[in-house]
Formats: sequence, C-alpha cells, structure tokens
Amino acid sequence: MSALPPSTTLEIAGISVEAGHERLVDDVSITLERGEVVALVGASGSGKSLTWAAALDTLPGGTRLSAGELRLDGAPVAASRLRGRVVAAIMQNPRSAFNPVRTLERHADETLKALGVARRERAPRIHQAMREAGLAEPARLLKLYPFEMSGGMLQRMMIALALASQAPFILADEPTTDLDTIHQRDTLDLLATLRQRFGLGLLLITHDMGVVARLADRVMVMDRGRIVESAPVDTLFERPESAVARELIEAHLSLYAPIATDPAFDEARR
Ligand SMILES: Nc1ncnc2c1ncn2[C@@H]1O[C@H](COP(=O)(O)OP(=O)(O)O)[C@@H](O)[C@H]1O
Ligand SMILES: [Mg+2]
Repeated sequence: MSALPPSTTLEIAGISVEAGHERLVDDVSITLERGEVVALVGASGSGKSLTWAAALDTLPGGTRLSAGELRLDGAPVAASRLRGRVVAAIMQNPRSAFNPVRTLERHADETLKALGVARRERAPRIHQAMREAGLAEPARLLKLYPFEMSGGMLQRMMIALALASQAPFILADEPTTDLDTIHQRDTLDLLATLRQRFGLGLLLITHDMGVVARLADRVMVMDRGRIVESAPVDTLFERPESAVARELIEAHLSLYAPIATDPAFDEARR
C-alpha cells in the first residue's frame, strides 16, 4: 500500500470524558508518531476504552467529551474527520465489528466507499490489503459471512480493512484479549510487521504486559481516569514508579515466569 497521507503526529490533547457529574477520563494527553507503538495500560475500568472512543468520536451514550482536542501535525482537527481516513480502529471483539448478515465483500466495499475510494479501485485495494494481513485467497474469503470465519481470521480482516483505508495511525483496543494464544501471537507478529513495513503509528490499549513487552516503544499508565506514569518500555519494566505499573508487571511475571527458575520445579525434579 503506498501513498499514505503525509501526517506524522497525532495528538490526543487534554481529553476529559464525563458521565453526569462524574469525570471518567481526566485531562489525558497522548502523542503518537508514525512508526511508533505507544501502549496505554491500566486496570479494568481505568478509562482506556473511553479515551480510545473519545479519539475516534465514538463515545457511548451517557458519556460526553468535556474538554480536550485532537491535533494532526499540530493543527486541531475534528475526530469525525480523522476516523477511518487518518485513524483506523481495531476493536477487542472482531465479531462485534461485523454485521452478521453481510458478506465480508460488502463490508470491505462499504468501508472503502465511505472513504471515497472509486469503485474500480476498491476490489484491488482490499485484495492487496488482505494479502498484507496474511489472508490468502482474498476472492474466496470475501464471499464468506462473518460467522463462517474464526475470530482470528476476523481480526485479520479488521486489520486488512485498516490497511486498505491507508490510515497512517491505528488505535487498537485490546486487540488480542479475545483470541486464543496462537492467534494472539499471530496478531502481534502481524502488527509488528505492518508497523515496520508501512511506518504505522499504533496506540495499543491493553492490560497484558506481555503484549507491551513484545510491541511497545513507550508506555502510558492509566489509573482512575488519569495518566500516572509515562516511560520508555525498558525503563517501565526495570523501574516502574506507579503502583499500577508494578501490579501489572507482577501479575505478568507471576503468570509467565519461566518454570525452570521456580524452586518448586527443581524440587519436583529431584
Ligand atoms: N457509557 C457509560 N456510562 C457511564 N459510565 C461508563 C460508560 N462507559 C464506561 N463507563 C465507566 O467509565 C470507567 C472507564 O471505563 P473504560 O474506559 O471502559 O475502562 P477500561 O477500558 O480501562 O477498562 C469505568 O468506571 C466504567 O464503568
Ligand atoms: Mg476497555
């Protein structure tokens, strides 16, 4: 895919989200450059998804943006103008992103039509994007309905749609949480490859520090609606400062510490 728009910096600047009188996201700022992966981590309910939704202008009913703006290369811009064209979304549950009664071909065609891509260009673009996303035989797959594909394949299809849109930035909200281990690894490998190949800027929302270690350059830690820590990924793992970062790292290590270093393992082998 060539001819990405030239934008190089996306800024979420001073975003606050409220529901009634409650402030759910409080003055959050995130800067994302092309070619960079920024992870937004935090416990469940800390406001990650609302931040993501505010940036895409898809806040759920009952919540509203009470402060902040988006900037592209320093200039304020409406989220509705960015969505799809400059910023593509990848969601946690790929199945919920697809209408069950439409073939993938219709999804793809309507996505590109909405972006103003000429009819004759749509099929070649989507075929190429599907191949980039590791979906061989695009013509055959496009005839399928969402229920005929696995969650892992639908996730690839969502990534293919993001690529076909040629958006330079991707906001991914827990893109691997609902996938099995093999598809998690595949999806992370794919995102890493695409970042390299197309210089995409990726905002990766996750609570999984394994995903962070695998992909992120920088990490922003969220707690109760606020950013409480921001650091390069190595620094965060070596010297986490916030309680939240320490807890997330400990949770990760307790799950994935190599069994061979566990004294109980040596014990059991004797
Ligand atoms: N539509 C809504 N109305 C009211 N409160 C909401 C709504 N959506 C989310 N919240 C609340 O906002 C907080 C942050 O939610 P969310 O951004 O989804 O957290 P995270 O993605 O970090 O798990 C939570 O306390 C959640 O209950
Ligand atoms: Mg969430």
